[in-house]
Amino acid sequence: MSGAADLPRRTRTCGHEGASASASPSPHTQFAALLRPTPDGTPPLLLAPMAGFTNSVTRRLAHRYGARLTYTEMVNAAGLIHDSEKTWQLLETLPDEGPVVAHLYGTDPAGFAEAARLIAATGRFCAIDINAGCPVPRITRSGAGARLMRQPRLAGRIVAAIRAACDLPVTVKTRLGPHPREIAVFDFLKAIEEAGATALALHGRFTTQGHAGTVHLPLVAEVRSRARIPIIGNGGISDAASARHFIKETGVAALMIGKAAIGRPWIFRDVAAGLADPDAPAADGRPDLDELRAVLFEHLADEVERLRAIAAKYPLPADALDPEAATVIGFRCHFFRYLGGLKGVSWARSQLSQLRTLEQVRELVDACLAREAAYRARGELLKGSRNADG
Ligand SMILES: Cc1cc2nc3c(=O)[nH]c(=O)nc-3n(C[C@H](O)[C@H](O)[C@H](O)COP(=O)(O)O)c2cc1C
Repeated sequence: MSGAADLPRRTRTCGHEGASASASPSPHTQFAALLRPTPDGTPPLLLAPMAGFTNSVTRRLAHRYGARLTYTEMVNAAGLIHDSEKTWQLLETLPDEGPVVAHLYGTDPAGFAEAARLIAATGRFCAIDINAGCPVPRITRSGAGARLMRQPRLAGRIVAAIRAACDLPVTVKTRLGPHPREIAVFDFLKAIEEAGATALALHGRFTTQGHAGTVHLPLVAEVRSRARIPIIGNGGISDAASARHFIKETGVAALMIGKAAIGRPWIFRDVAAGLADPDAPAADGRPDLDELRAVLFEHLADEVERLRAIAAKYPLPADALDPEAATVIGFRCHFFRYLGGLKGVSWARSQLSQLRTLEQVRELVDACLAREAAYRARGELLKGSRNADG
């Protein structure tokens, strides 16, 4: 396959091809602009790739709240070249979701190159990112994900192969090393820089830590000081204070937020505001209930639309649930992040498995939010009477 005209229909992600490249700056110039500081002089905020979460709807919400760049879910490079419909579905995009990086895993440089050519031809992605940090055995068993950290030369060959195959920038996302006694990131950085990588997203943890635990900021700072390419810092950023601390300790070019953005898309707005004005009162961590309600319902309705669009484009199995019921079931992981910490959430949890329609979910969410609102009102009342007494 050599060009867009040869591509099967599904490679034209949702029919939203990018604007013609003729008049626009090169993809490398555009990508460099995406990593520039904000007008306030603070690093841009990015949404981390998260399998099972960062589909087009989640990415669009993050973009709307100020995420400069978002990543697709992890996509198997080999699946793309073998024309797997399930794999191509993961690359579906929406027209108004902003700049998106296609995030791939695999081990074969030639396979990456072929996949990169197909991705570039969709015109919808601003860069191609290589996953060199996923600790899940299903991925590492074949040498991909976090295993790639131990093979810097192979990682370099993959970067070079993609660079030769298309004109999109190539980035890599990795960790500090397999475990604290094996810090692999310095050799890794050197190899991918020499091969032509444009940026490195660095999760400041070791593979053995999974996605939680101490983020080793001094090591991230050392990587940043040795790097010739921009370093995107990642790990443990959950509010403006942690973002400020990360920047102060490491000096990274950009910050990438993962878990804290699930069910909290407004985190990009709140962190940006806190970075721009350190004296501004910090958000108390409790979401505004009207905003939460509006965003959760919009997210849910958009997920149904997304699944309908996919069902119209890719034949689904005969026994597949209808898009509304399938969305309500699949949305549970987002649902509990949205409602996490609120008063009615344990009760809502016990009800959710029964639900199949948007209307039923709306009723449940409204009941849960009413409990939280009553709890907050009682708190305000008590505070008021204590102030009056004092
Ligand atoms: C559910 C989940 C799925 C993830 N999937 C991926 C993935 O596909 N590729 C990847 O490079 N990292 C993945 N990550 C790691 C995140 O991108 C990020 O590096 C990690 O969560 C640390 O950032 P945080 O502390 O802000 O959450 C995943 C994390 C979570 C929690």
